[in-house]
Amino acid sequence: MDALGVFTALGTPAGRADPYPHYAALHELGEVVSLGPGAVAVVGYDAISSVLRDAGYRVSDEATFDRDFPGWRDNPVFVQSMDWILNLNAPRHSRIRSLIARAFTARRVAGLEPAIIRMADDLLDGIAERGADGSVVEFMHDFAYLLPVTVICELIGIPEADRESFRPVARDIAGVFELNDPASLPAINAAAVELLAYFTGLAAQRRANPRDDLITDLLAVSDADDGRLTDDELLHNLTLLLVAGFETTTNLLGNGLHVILQQPEAGAAVMDGSVPASAFVQEALRYDSPVQLTSRVGYPAELGGIKVGDGDSVMTLIGAGNRDPRKFTDPDKFQPLRGGGAPLSFGGGAHFCIGAALARLEGTVAFPRLLSRFPKIAAAGAPVRRESFLLRGFDALPVTIV
Ligand code: HEM
Repeated sequence: MDALGVFTALGTPAGRADPYPHYAALHELGEVVSLGPGAVAVVGYDAISSVLRDAGYRVSDEATFDRDFPGWRDNPVFVQSMDWILNLNAPRHSRIRSLIARAFTARRVAGLEPAIIRMADDLLDGIAERGADGSVVEFMHDFAYLLPVTVICELIGIPEADRESFRPVARDIAGVFELNDPASLPAINAAAVELLAYFTGLAAQRRANPRDDLITDLLAVSDADDGRLTDDELLHNLTLLLVAGFETTTNLLGNGLHVILQQPEAGAAVMDGSVPASAFVQEALRYDSPVQLTSRVGYPAELGGIKVGDGDSVMTLIGAGNRDPRKFTDPDKFQPLRGGGAPLSFGGGAHFCIGAALARLEGTVAFPRLLSRFPKIAAAGAPVRRESFLLRGFDALPVTIV
């Protein structure tokens, strides 16, 4: 089968459910494959890494949107997203990202650990109550979804009283990454408008009464730097933190538990200490990456023997790179102590995930607590996969705990 045939197979429900044999077929065709005029897919670990680190490859920005989607300005979510660092190129990207990074520090992330432990334990208490009599518990909703959204609320500084109403809005706007169906746009736009109004109000409160939270620190950065971070840039990027940090981490938790349900020895190794939780998380990120793909706009260059043209679509298949046999021995085996380098799951280069340390911390806290609380956790029925290809995870993962 040629690359386009494999790609078409990847887009089918069966391909989305299990893309890995198709990735293996692509690896046999080369590190980079042509998908026809104007489109290439990058599947090798090293090639993906070099594209993400090469500033010649740009992310889709306003200019690309004008070309591909002329009506985008009518959608509040896209107007906001044009300020997201994810969709900016240098020099604007570097300016805004470095200002955000001044507030989103390693110290702030590490300081969240006690709160993450508390939140995880609260959620596990709820699961213990519901599942004590052998009833089926739904892990995705009851834990994997609630933990990251609550952690982001805590990080940003969203008061506990507002969190309940905040969650469904967060869920709606996160749909922007999986726009398979234009019918979902009105709900996503409504969420974007509501979130902006909410963050505007919260920013006014924090300007008047600063607290120890990310929004207060970001306001300090923007005020101190003479408007170098405008209010719009700040508020819009708060929305980005929400959308970028929430379903991705949900899927790390779900995909990691799925491995444990299928291969109980992987969970047992975390429990007996032979595998550190951080190594389990790293291998879960590699083995079943929550983000399977990102993309760039090409510039005239040669990549793995394939010619790339100006404006070409360059898809970097992170999920494939993580199973590249040239990089990882026995890539289809789950081996937390394999070594051999970091997976590509958080991207690389200028756009490397700003929340990587936070996501790792959540996973490192969650899995040992979950396993020590419920050593008998087991699958209860078939998991339900999400439809999406880009974000890989489950809608439902039913389990029993006794
Ligand atoms: C397991 C969880 C996560 C995964 C797999 C993940 C994955 C990624 C990837 C692949 C990128 C790079 C995209 C590209 O190069 O086009 C990225 C960027 C980003 N991530 Fe994450 N992420 C996760 C968690 C988080 C969290 C918890 C936050 C924030 C609280 C976050 C915030 C961001 C932001 C703001 C960017 C854009 C950075 C930039 O463009 O400069 N992510 N993430």
